[in-house]
Amino acid sequence: MTKKVMILPGDGIGPEIVEQAMAVLEVVSGKYHLGLSFEQGLIGGASIDAHGEPLTDETLKAAGECDAVLLGAVGGPQWDTLAREIRPEKGLLKIRSGLGLYANLRPAILYPQLADASSLKPEVVAGLDILIVRELTGGIYFGEPRGIRTLENGERQGYNTYVYSESEIERIARSAFEAAQKRNGKLCSVDKANVLEVTVLWREVLDRLAPEYPDVELSHMYVDNAAMQLVRAPKQFDVMVTGNMFGDILSDAAAMLTGSIGMLPSASLNENGFGLYEPCHGSAPDIAGQGIANPLATILSAAMMLRYSLNMGEAADAIEAAVSEVLEQGLRTADIYTEGCRKVSTAEMGAAVVAAL
Ligand code: NAD
Ligand code: IPM
Ligand code: MN
Repeated sequence: MTKKVMILPGDGIGPEIVEQAMAVLEVVSGKYHLGLSFEQGLIGGASIDAHGEPLTDETLKAAGECDAVLLGAVGGPQWDTLAREIRPEKGLLKIRSGLGLYANLRPAILYPQLADASSLKPEVVAGLDILIVRELTGGIYFGEPRGIRTLENGERQGYNTYVYSESEIERIARSAFEAAQKRNGKLCSVDKANVLEVTVLWREVLDRLAPEYPDVELSHMYVDNAAMQLVRAPKQFDVMVTGNMFGDILSDAAAMLTGSIGMLPSASLNENGFGLYEPCHGSAPDIAGQGIANPLATILSAAMMLRYSLNMGEAADAIEAAVSEVLEQGLRTADIYTEGCRKVSTAEMGAAVVAAL
């Protein structure tokens, strides 16, 4: 039995953190006889530099033929002036859409050792364990028409379209209901149904499906309130489900509850359980090349990959336990550093997780 993983390091800190996650995967592969093999590919600015586009059709096809994909991050100032269609971020959107990865799971879990690293009071975040289910292949990110046009008076106007069809809402809602069933049975759907028709429909579909999941308690919340509640009393949430853009924003806010954006992993799944795994953060150009980025979100994404796509739950548990162990040892990258701990580099953190395994 061998399982092939497509590795897409990307840009900025991407290659630095993916290197650590691969080292961890190689160790668990040996220890648990997983037979993992890797194929490297280019995405984002790295692909633009090599091929003139942020994701080639060949790489997309090769990724889809692997058993799972592990991605670092894309983007950087050197590509920000390119035409929108060929910017690094388009590569990410292309792989998500091209592989049908509509269900983005972003778990925000506070490791108890990091209670002091959170910007919120320890008692507000202690025991935090929430799951944000973000719709990833629709909404305003993909809606047509979109663009920048010139009006009759010569002024330019930018426009995007926020659309969701019932079937798109239904499938992400089902992912969220099912996730809530496996957790604490609470689902909060986040929308802007007081203003936007698209989310009036969103709310209707959630309500229509709710009776099929009698063991899940469904509630609704407006996104502005949800942002506030996330920093006021985040432990009221179990699973949150929302559209593409709201989910993007709320998950970065939730990340800080766990101590750092460098702690938040993600899984992006299609209807067959095929998945792409990546940290929620970006390429962090401000610290790229310094060897100080936190690799744990990527290492935890690799654990999610083993659990969700490769049916290797035991190895996933082992990685998560090893992460907990290194935090227990007091090792901290700069983003989660607090007084009395030992500040380590990206590579030292990765090596410590490997050693703990
Ligand atoms: P970012 O997430 O890259 O960085 C925001 C802040 O968090 C920075 O100060 C950065 O140093 C810090 N940070 C992020 N990850 C960290 C880690 N692992 N360890 C320590 N600190 C970390 O967001 P940004 O600055 O808004 O965007 C930078 C680039 O990344 C842009 O080109 C953007 O489009 C892209 N981006 C890509 C992804 C992705 O690939 N999934 C996600 C977000 C942003
Ligand atoms: C993320 C990122 C991406 C998004 C960008 C880089 C396209 O912010 O993965 O959260 O908005 O989805
Ligand atoms: Mn984001």
